[in-house]
Amino acid sequence: MKDINTANLPSHVAFIMDGNGRWAKSRLMPRSFGHQHGMERMMGLLQHAFDLGIPTVTVYALSTENLSRPQAELDALFSLFRTYFSKYVHELIEKKARLCILGDISVLPEDVQSSIQSAVQASASFTERCVNIALNYGARDEILRAVNLAVVQGKQLDKEGFANLLYTKGQSDPDLIIRTGKEKRLSNFLLYQAAYAELYFSDKMFPAFSDKDFDAALEEFSNRTRRFGKV
Ligand code: FPP
Repeated sequence: MKDINTANLPSHVAFIMDGNGRWAKSRLMPRSFGHQHGMERMMGLLQHAFDLGIPTVTVYALSTENLSRPQAELDALFSLFRTYFSKYVHELIEKKARLCILGDISVLPEDVQSSIQSAVQASASFTERCVNIALNYGARDEILRAVNLAVVQGKQLDKEGFANLLYTKGQSDPDLIIRTGKEKRLSNFLLYQAAYAELYFSDKMFPAFSDKDFDAALEEFSNRTRRFGKV
């Protein structure tokens, strides 16, 4: 911790939580075991971010493409969402964190949708901290949705007007995107918002990505020079 320049922490960190399946496979366990541990790690990292004073965290929990996975794996993920949004969400409320969902949740089982909606409503008045959970999210879908809304409104938009049609309306862009699990790509995540994000890739599988690993990413971020295209 002492190596982190706390004056230069990101305000918004986003995670591509990759590697749950491989982590489980390496332990001869089913993929659902990896997702369960991934969920627990996600909660630990959220707590760590808030302890450090990082106000906004976004996590990629289910992409539009992930919905084509075998039904048994999807059912295990839906069951985790059920547990998280009904049992653990009070932890977010205690932390005074507002929950926002990025993506189209209408395809999720109805009981999961209603527990998500209750959690969103219960946390809607908080302004200090924010947790975005991307669920059935794809950046291309998000951008197309915004374009279609703009067409319906019949308006030409500037950058701010367009950003206000995205799921992240009113929020700052991610300063740092961390992807675990060895791959080095964005996989349709926050493509518009990531224009000037610093990218950090870790070889660790998500369930093994510790608070210390997070600190190492933050330390690297604090030492990078962000020029935003200027000199
Ligand atoms: C990618 O790893 C991970 C996912 C598709 C799911 C991530 C979900 C969680 C961490 C649980 C989140 C829980 C809540 C309540 C938001 P992978 O399965 O693609 O791993 P692999 O690349 O090793 O196969």
